[in-house]
Order: sequence, then structure tokens, then C-alpha cells
Amino acid sequence: MEIHSKKYGLFLGLSLIFTFAAGFAIAEIHHHEFVIEPKAVSRLCRTQQIMTVNGQFPGPTLEVHNGDTLVINVKNAGKYDISLHWHGVRQLRNPWADGPEYVTQCPIKPGGSYTYRFTIENQEGTLWWHAHSKWLRATVYGALIIYPKLGYSYPFPKPTREFPLILGEWWNRDPMQVLRQSMITGAAPNVSDAYTINGQPGDLYGCSNKDTTIFPVEAGETILLRIINAALNQELFFAIANHQMTVVEADAAYTKPFTTNVVMIGPGQTTNVLVTANQPPGRYYIAATAYASAPGVAFDNTTTTAVLEYKSAACKTKNGSPIKPILPQLPFWNDTNTANAFTAQFRGISEGKVPLEIHENLFFTVSLGLINCSRPSFRCQGPNNTRFTASMNNVSFVLPRRNSILQALYQNTPGVFTTDFPPVPPVQFDYTGQVSRAMWTPSRGTKLYKLKFGSHVQIVLQNTNISSIEDHPMHLHGYQFFVVGSGKGNFNPQRDPANFNLVDPPVRNTVGTTPGGWVAIRFVADNPGVWLMHCHLDVHIGWGLAMAFLVENGFGELNSIQVPPPGLPQC
Ligand code: C2O
Repeated sequence: MEIHSKKYGLFLGLSLIFTFAAGFAIAEIHHHEFVIEPKAVSRLCRTQQIMTVNGQFPGPTLEVHNGDTLVINVKNAGKYDISLHWHGVRQLRNPWADGPEYVTQCPIKPGGSYTYRFTIENQEGTLWWHAHSKWLRATVYGALIIYPKLGYSYPFPKPTREFPLILGEWWNRDPMQVLRQSMITGAAPNVSDAYTINGQPGDLYGCSNKDTTIFPVEAGETILLRIINAALNQELFFAIANHQMTVVEADAAYTKPFTTNVVMIGPGQTTNVLVTANQPPGRYYIAATAYASAPGVAFDNTTTTAVLEYKSAACKTKNGSPIKPILPQLPFWNDTNTANAFTAQFRGISEGKVPLEIHENLFFTVSLGLINCSRPSFRCQGPNNTRFTASMNNVSFVLPRRNSILQALYQNTPGVFTTDFPPVPPVQFDYTGQVSRAMWTPSRGTKLYKLKFGSHVQIVLQNTNISSIEDHPMHLHGYQFFVVGSGKGNFNPQRDPANFNLVDPPVRNTVGTTPGGWVAIRFVADNPGVWLMHCHLDVHIGWGLAMAFLVENGFGELNSIQVPPPGLPQC
């Protein structure tokens, strides 16, 4: 059930003044009821219960304008604790609405509810929302589309049609049970059974072709696809047979347009592409498959498809069977060169905005790891009697259980977290070379790094060869950042900064650390609160590939965290 009561009230009065003064649009308040509830759905020749919002899979699409306020009342009618995250929304001074469980809030218990209230401030484009509790986001997710303010337009020709296109990952089991099993055994969790486009696996899987997602187009028109990677654990290559794509926006930040045959998109990322229907009328496959950068690690090697269907095309052959669409060429699963070449084309429209003087120069390793067990046991079924783990700067992040970090901060409760996350790794080593086995086991802790309000921050995220190299899509809550550089091997602080793009770097909220390489990001710490930074492969979050920033309040109320909203769940 979705309520779209657009309440103007006080806003109307205020906005009218602006309307006359500056041609500003009227900000709206969107009220939604989100009921978390189980629902039986059929995929891949079987029926199973999944967790949904309002019985929908994918969940409801939220459509708002820049400047609007959302009020989302979440009722948990499911059997698991849950919280929701509005991925990429900056939540200025409002970490209470951010959502990661045990970080900014205690989860909503079965039978409980919580109202998320937040305003979109100076953001436009495609974002999304998802559960931020264990593996519930495998099925609990949806698109969040932010249009320009009324009266404003895109910085590119207006498409005649727009579609959200959400890539997902499907298990023939309750994903929470897949996670649970891996937490017991210490081994890697089972890989998924399918990828999906808008919840459907498509023609290349059993019992799926009657439900394949169709994107209808008129010959000659230009459409906008808002691609979202909501897959739990897999970066994906994406292509459309015989059609080029023009990238115009990513992670709710416009880019200088560029044309490509293939998109690589990591979990957490969004990419908006324009597609012109300039081919002979027909049916063309839209397809996505794994970009699996870790050598020798098992992954789901299947391909999901949808159909770009020209309305004027004959859909059936003379004898009545549907016309088989053409498949696009997708790169091989380990084609890091193609992935890097795609990513290297991004340029932001960020001229004059990049912080040049840096106050906090941070260097974080991003690593997998293994915990040795003294003897074989059912709890140590990782490689050679080990358990998988992961870390940043050798700290494997542990979520608190008795309180959330933000609530503990606000209530001054000691013992929930510490602020001694190291700015550099405790030992320097050849990160991408052969790493001694003694270095593979991190320490554990709920460690935050403190940032002064307004400080200019640079973080170099260094991939390591501990256990295995792999591209980690790293996501920062509460911020968008400039991606100023990246490279292969170990970051060289003398040589590499000379090649940074400080003119028009792309702006993102999730960035890949290329396998066996590094990426450098910059931002201004202008949003006080507790903000998680983590790998958006959920398998790695569970192992501890995360840390959090504590951004201190600035001067005065307008630069400080707001008071908590009523009804914040308690642990
Ligand atoms: Cu999209 Cu911490 O999440």
C-alpha cells in the first residue's frame, strides 16, 4: 500500500515566495508506507518465500524532485530484524535516517516500526534504497529517482522515455540461510543461482522466459536507462545488442557524456545511459554477466537478459513462434582491462569544486584474510582449515550488538566503539606482491576515525594480495566524493599524486579499487555524523571489510547533528 499524499501546508506558503522571487519550484513532501512482509514468488522453476516491501519485488520506485522531503513509515511484518538505507542520499546533519543497523540505528524488530524522514538537498539522478541488515537486501531494494526541481532540466537532451533497470542476484534459498551457513562454517557462502533485471532472470534460465522484462521503444527515439546494481556480491558487465550507450550520470552526479558498448557496474553503483533506437526494428537482448576479478574464486557464471523491443517489430515469425533476439557481446568474466578502460572514461562536471589543500591524508588497505584454526573443525571450512575474514588497515570491523554507534555517541555510552582507527596500515609491506602468511589475520574492533568538521580529506584505498586480489566496490555513507586517481600496484606517494585529475574528476558514492591497484578519493567533511565506509559486496561486509568515520559537529546548530527523531528503535 502506497500513499502519495502531497502535503504542501507550510511549504506552500514559503515556496510561493520563492516561486515569485526566483522561479523556484515547490518542494513536496512524499509520504509512503513500507510494510516489510514475506511473499511467495516463483523463479527458476520453484516457488519460495522472500522478504519484500509491500509484497513487491523489486520494491516500490520512489520518484521525487530535488528539494523534496520523504517520510517513509516502515513497519516490520517480517521475521527478521531489519533497517533500510537510502543509498547515496547525503542525509545532511541527519545520520538518524541513514539506516545501517548498529551503526546509525538499532534494527526495527519484527512487529516494530520506524519513520525515516529526510530531504533531498542538491542531488539529482538515480539512487536506490535497500535493507541494511545482514543479507536482507538480496530481495529488499528499489529505485530512488530524483528529478531536477520543477522548471529545471537535465544537462542533456530530454529522453522520450525513462526506465529504471535494476540488476539483482537470486538464490534458490533464503539468502539469510545462505549467510547463516557461511557464518557457521567459515567458508565462502554459496554463489547465487541467477542474476536478474527488474526481478526477472530472463530467457537463459529455466521456467523464466514468459516473465522476461521487456523495455518497449519506438524506432528512432532516445530513452534513458537508469541502471542500478543491486546484486549482493557481484560486479557486472552490461550491454545491449547492436546498441551503443551514452553515459550521462552515475551515482546521482552528472558526467561529461561518453559513448560505450559495455558498462561495468559494481554493487551500490548506478549508471544512467541514453540509448537511441537507431537499429532495424526488432528485438534485442539487454544482458548482464559477472565481472569476477578474483582469480580462482567461485562465482555465478550465468547471464541475465531483458529485451529491448521495438514496437513496430513483428514479434512472431510466420509460424507463430516468438522471434529470438540477438545477444550482445559481453567481455570475459576476468576482463579487468575492459572494466578499467570503461571506468577511466568518467569525467565529472566538477570544475572548481575539488579540494586542493588536504588536511587529512589517509591511506587504507582493503583486504581479505584468513583466520587459522588450530585443528580441523566444522567451523573452519575455509581453505586449509581456516575461516574467511576481511579488514581495512588490518582492523576487521565488528558491528556492536547492544547499541548503535550513533546512539551510543549521542547518549555518551562508553564501551560501544573507539576512535582509534589507524590513518595508515600498522605495518607497511608490498601490498600487491607476495604477502607473508603471517600478515593474513587482522585484529578485530569497532574502530572509528575522527574527522574535524570541514576538513579536506584524501583517502587512498589500496587493494592487497592478502588471500586474493579482487576489485572491491567501496561505498561511503553520507558523502559523495571526487575520484581523483587510480593505478596499478602499490600507491607511490611521491610519484602518483602528480597524475591526479583535480580538474574534472567523477563524483561518486561507490568506487572500485582495481584488483591489485589503488584508487584515491577526496571530499570535504561537511556532514557531521557517523558514516560507514565498506565494501558493497555483502559477503565482505560480514567478514569485516568496513570502518566508520565520526565527523564532529561544526560551529553552531546549523553545522551540528540534528536531534534524534521520535520513535528511534532501541536495541
Ligand atoms: Cu548501499 Cu552501506 O550501503
